[in-house]
Amino acid sequence: TTKILQDSFGREHNYLRISLIEKCNLRCAYCMPADGVPLTPKSQLMTAEEIFEIAKTFVAQGVDKIRLTGGEPLVRKDFAEILKNLATLPVKLSITTNAVLTDRFIEDFKKYGLNDINVSLDTLLPEKFKMITRRDQFKKAYDNIQLLIKEGFNVKINAVLMQDFNKDEIVDFVLFTKNLPITVRFIEFMPFDGNRWNRSKLVTEKEILEQVENFFGSKYLQKLEDEQNFTSRNYKIEGFEGRFGIISSVSNPFCDGCNRIRLTANGKIKNCLFSNHETDVLGALREGQNLEELISNSLFKKKAVRAGMDNFEKLNDPERHTKNRSMITIGG
Ligand code: GTP
Ligand code: 5AD
Ligand code: SF4
Repeated sequence: TTKILQDSFGREHNYLRISLIEKCNLRCAYCMPADGVPLTPKSQLMTAEEIFEIAKTFVAQGVDKIRLTGGEPLVRKDFAEILKNLATLPVKLSITTNAVLTDRFIEDFKKYGLNDINVSLDTLLPEKFKMITRRDQFKKAYDNIQLLIKEGFNVKINAVLMQDFNKDEIVDFVLFTKNLPITVRFIEFMPFDGNRWNRSKLVTEKEILEQVENFFGSKYLQKLEDEQNFTSRNYKIEGFEGRFGIISSVSNPFCDGCNRIRLTANGKIKNCLFSNHETDVLGALREGQNLEELISNSLFKKKAVRAGMDNFEKLNDPERHTKNRSMITIGG
């Protein structure tokens, strides 16, 4: 049996998130700076072969779940090849996508056993979609979500909530789960480089639950049991086919059960979403160094909670050298 990668708190890291690309076909304001991010030269990004090599090292160290992220992972030209390679490994495959291109990949997803599809969708209104994503693709994304559900994929919708933007849609999103076998997850808006986060834009877990209780009545609201290594605490409205969840990284972090490690498109390990400490595995691979030691050393530096970031106001303060990446180059 393989020994599973552990950090110094004994947390076992069996879940690898791989960002395949820094580009996206949408332009969500909470994810990237208005004028975009500097383009990393292609030579510094992982090739399909390199992704496979690095993934194999992680699998040898106990990783059994891989999520593909971006940017938008489906924008990558060799996506099918990457998926095909990873499908030969003993891992559960999953993806986080905006669904604009998923109709083209239904057969690949099925052939290579990728069944868990998380879709970012922050509004059910076409006009608002255009505002937040700066692209007019609501219908495409919405129709593709319906298609994924019809084709039997396990679909979760991710909606990042912000004051003055979509907090008036919380109830509509929950109603969306009435006759669909999906989970809608509300996400607290988190600070990343260039996304103009401030606490007043936050819609908290508490506020979300209050709205749901007020509308549906607290006796119809059921808390579901927390899953192992959860990001979202999940609920159900009695009689509804689907469920909803809340990802409360800001007001109520879930770092105790963190099993996640990240690999960026340029081959750096990030051991926490909020850590600006990075380890260059791609460079090491290209120089023929031993990756296993590099990976476990990196993990050993992981902090207990949110990379030690107890105060989000400090996060993007240049004076404090805590500058992190933009979300578009982390992948969530
Ligand atoms: P499942 O495998 O379906 O549980 O998905 P997931 O929640 O791990 O991944 P997804 O890509 O759908 O991310 C949903 C939201 O959770 C995004 O806003 C992510 O940034 C956030 N998220 C994912 N992993 C972590 C994590 O380790 N820490 C924090 N704070 N947030 C995370
Ligand atoms: N705060 C919270 N979630 C975010 N995501 C992107 N940017 C942010 C942010 N600033 C979410 C997207 C996507 C997931 C990978 O991360 O909704 O579904
Ligand atoms: Fe893990 Fe960092 Fe996310 Fe906490 S904030 S759950 S430690 S990745």
